[in-house]
Amino acid sequence: MVIPFEEEYRKKFYELERQIFDSNFWSEGKMQRTFEEKFGDYVRLGARAVASGGAALLAILEYIDVRGKDVIVPANTFWADARAVQMAGGNVIFADCNKEDLCLSLEDMKKKVTDETKAVIVVHIGGHIAFEIEEIANYCKERGIALVEDCAHVHGGWWNGKTGGHYGIAGAYSFYATKTMPLGDGGMVVSKDPELLKWVEKYRNYGKEVIDGHVYYKLENGFNCRINEFTAALGIVQMERLPMILEWKKSLAEKYDQIFENRVKLPDGMVSGYYKYIVFDTPLTQETGQVFGPGDLGDVIAKVEAAVPNSHWVTQHHKCAPIYFGYEHADKSVDELRETLLK
Ligand SMILES: Cc1ncc(COP(=O)(O)O)c(C=O)c1O
Repeated sequence: MVIPFEEEYRKKFYELERQIFDSNFWSEGKMQRTFEEKFGDYVRLGARAVASGGAALLAILEYIDVRGKDVIVPANTFWADARAVQMAGGNVIFADCNKEDLCLSLEDMKKKVTDETKAVIVVHIGGHIAFEIEEIANYCKERGIALVEDCAHVHGGWWNGKTGGHYGIAGAYSFYATKTMPLGDGGMVVSKDPELLKWVEKYRNYGKEVIDGHVYYKLENGFNCRINEFTAALGIVQMERLPMILEWKKSLAEKYDQIFENRVKLPDGMVSGYYKYIVFDTPLTQETGQVFGPGDLGDVIAKVEAAVPNSHWVTQHHKCAPIYFGYEHADKSVDELRETLLK
């Protein structure tokens, strides 16, 4: 296996690398700003690049200031969410997911909300927007609870003109190696709130602020969450490739829809970016890793299994048909794929 990256785009990346050497900026330069502009235009929000999806979550949670407060986190997700809450000094309160979309359950979230709830994290699992996102957003807004969107999976997911990051105070994207738009590592905070974005600019660089040409550091906020110019340059090129990657995934998903009956079914108007193609109780001969499995959830499930029965069910019953860009059987017909994938 090689990284699928067409020659034409490799050349574009090499040219940007050349420009970086000539610019004398290893970081905090033109590539970062251009990547942010392009990503922001794509999601129709302001965007600030950081080192990882986890760093993006942490920056948002520190902005909200969850220290000593409760933050509701879906049990059916990667550790990054709970860990970011802990690092920001908050208390993790796990809530269950729905079996239909694998995302945070509105009903269970409401049960977990108390006067101590400062924030809720919703994770758009697998490439689609959480089906109950509007209701979750309204509920949080009415109660002054900050809604944070974990957008690590949702590149290319749209619903009624909105993508991840439009519903809460901010969204955290990841560009980790396995993601729909991989950079190896990297992340992006997206938001409509200019103050939050300004804050992230400082936060990602140890609280650095330049006032009248003088550099100031504020000790209370920030760490090194910077992205470097080379990663940002790759981000610029990946933005150009993203429509092609999403189109490729969509056409494979359309074939899978004809093969798999027991699967995540998208509501009207939902466009998934198909980070994952999720099926239930289906024997597969080839599969990619589960969205989240007992390995991810082990400790949580062991401690709170009774409290999150759907999350437990999901880890036991779902699998993912291969839909990573470059999957070697993607060009096969529906019948051939059925033959290849079903036991
Ligand atoms: C749902 C979710 N949130 C956050 C992250 C963390 O992103 P990163 O690895 O870029 O820190 C990941 C995966 O990596 C993820 O799957």
